[in-house]
Amino acid sequence: MSRYHDVYAGWKADPEAFWSEAAKEIDWIAPPNKVFDPYSGQYGRWFPGATCNTCYNCVDRHVATRGDQKALIHDSPITGTQTSYTYRELQHEVATLAAVIARHGVSKGDRVIIYMPMVPEATFAMLACARLGAIHSVVFGGFAANELATRIDDAQPKMILSASCGIEPARVVAYKPLLDGAIELAEHKPSNCLILQREQEACALVAGRDHDWASSVAAAKAAGEMADCVAVEATDPLYVLYTSGTTGEPKGVVRDNGGHMVALKWSMKAIYDVDPGDVYWAASDVGWVVGHSYIVFAPLLHGCTTVMFEGKPVGTPDAGVFWRVISEHGVKCLFTAPTAFRAIKKEDPQGALIKEYDLSKFEALYLAGERADPDTIQWAEQKLGVPVYDHWWQTETGWTIAGNPVGLGALPVKYGSSTVPMPGYDVQILDEQGAEVPAGETGSICIKLPMPPGCFPTLWNKDERFRESYLTTFSGFYETSDAGYKDEDGYVYIMARTDDIINVAGHRLSTGGMEEVVAAHPDVAECAVIGIADAMKGQSPAGFIVLNAGVNRPTEEIEKEVVQLVRDKIGPVAAFKTVLSVPRLPKTRSGKILRKTMRMIADGEDYKMPATIDDPVILDEITACLKERGIAA
Ligand code: COA
Ligand code: AMP
Repeated sequence: MSRYHDVYAGWKADPEAFWSEAAKEIDWIAPPNKVFDPYSGQYGRWFPGATCNTCYNCVDRHVATRGDQKALIHDSPITGTQTSYTYRELQHEVATLAAVIARHGVSKGDRVIIYMPMVPEATFAMLACARLGAIHSVVFGGFAANELATRIDDAQPKMILSASCGIEPARVVAYKPLLDGAIELAEHKPSNCLILQREQEACALVAGRDHDWASSVAAAKAAGEMADCVAVEATDPLYVLYTSGTTGEPKGVVRDNGGHMVALKWSMKAIYDVDPGDVYWAASDVGWVVGHSYIVFAPLLHGCTTVMFEGKPVGTPDAGVFWRVISEHGVKCLFTAPTAFRAIKKEDPQGALIKEYDLSKFEALYLAGERADPDTIQWAEQKLGVPVYDHWWQTETGWTIAGNPVGLGALPVKYGSSTVPMPGYDVQILDEQGAEVPAGETGSICIKLPMPPGCFPTLWNKDERFRESYLTTFSGFYETSDAGYKDEDGYVYIMARTDDIINVAGHRLSTGGMEEVVAAHPDVAECAVIGIADAMKGQSPAGFIVLNAGVNRPTEEIEKEVVQLVRDKIGPVAAFKTVLSVPRLPKTRSGKILRKTMRMIADGEDYKMPATIDDPVILDEITACLKERGIAA
């Protein structure tokens, strides 16, 4: 029998008592005098008045009890290397790096951008910032200079930590030209950059601004310099993580220190059923929220060994690499995106490679980031012989909204559902008027305020945008922008986004942002970008362009330029490879582009002719164009 229903009811009856109990797992410098203050912040704040340090809780406090246990294993099939750090070694690395960046003037409240590949130094960097009370902002390596520049201008970092290159299976990605380009484009100029030279491709350093990582750290080690943990308010920001919004301007999701630690620490046992000392692996990237929460902070808060993987589920070198990592490091729990499993299944449909490894320590697979299709879940269950749990969350929440709380006793899995709301989340499905809909009926998925600890208190420097984006449509609720339903047992089903965000290989992207870039091409009169179904990536973006009158260059040439423009402005992560030149775009009589109908045509779904369509013939033109490219069914 699962204890879930009792625990959830207990939380609902007295949320403050619930979180007060969970907060006992954290080492506070000054304990909270109040669990929740409903009158401060945008919807209240958790643990006001408390002081703490996230790095201390992740690293230092474990040194006395588990100093010789591995804290971090870096496994990099792409470079053929493996490195590990015990908690004691991790403390040394982090405290030394913190001393180095403190020497460059970084202190409490300063922002630091981290633009790095999946190397251990990226984890040290995040923890070093936390140690000093500085606010880090990690930018994913697959973003282009322009995206990095936008984040530099918004976060106004004092310093940037970066590396000479990242490594993708087919190429070395030189980071430094992207970093230099971004600083050139940005209005805000950081005073110092610390650059990790990687042997695969070194880079030139800008005199006076750039400092060599290895020699700076070596000098600090030789001098015995180490920075202490700085006390911060529980409500102070730990990090800002930019995520896609409905425009090209990304949203700076703020995470606080205290509530974040309480929620993540609670999640490790209750949701993932892992104990201190267990090996936990989130196969994501530190550039995404999954990487922040479950490569770095949660496993370390809990005293686990965390695995940082620099590779791909396939091709580094084969579709057996996940099983190798699980068996070599004794991984108990793997968390990844369904895309990774679709990629593995495509390469090794019989799961033959699984049999080559000893997976005896492996107990469960958790999937999130995009809809987990039942086929993929069932394949993984059958081939791995472990339970597979889907769970739903967002960058904004930082941890699970709805999942299967295995540590409280697993609930029966229902394929297609991410299971039930976690304590802290009163999930309601609302109609357009804001009334709760009956079980089985689809509506907007909303969370009754306040959001639980760990969720974002606001957007960086943009309280107004926070309220407009999330709190205004349904009074008293956070609007998730996901649509779906709950069944009669309270299981949650996530069906679609209600905005123009798409999910490509578990990466969250804004089609609105892509349209802004496409529209900037001089030959493009108007455009629409939609996400179409993709068997491996879930969705992939497709752009429809209408050319300016009088343009008489070959359309293929322009289409290629548009693809390149998105790659240059947003980055390869947009995976924007399909552009179709069409004579006209379908619109309503009031001029709104019918993107949903276009998507349904592309995905071969039945659609109803929109009553407000201006000219139905245009849909035939779009269908013909998609068929010609072999896209529409
Ligand atoms: N730095 C630079 N470029 C990057 C990058 C990084 N960190 N990560 C991805 N890219 C590039 C890729 O090389 C690719 O470039 P290309 O167009 O030149 O081939 C492009 O961005 C698109 O990447 P991706 O969508 O990841 O496609 P892929 O074909 O390289 O890999 C998968 C497909 C399924 C193997 C891969 O997406 C994957 O491992 N997904 C797991 C999901 C995941 O980690 N999600 C994170 C949230 S949990
Ligand atoms: P991100 O902020 O990048 O984590 O993306 C969050 C979005 O990804 C959510 O709003 C959903 O649209 C989607 N998502 C995340 N997890 C799931 C899931 N388990 N099932 C369906 N969609 C999901």
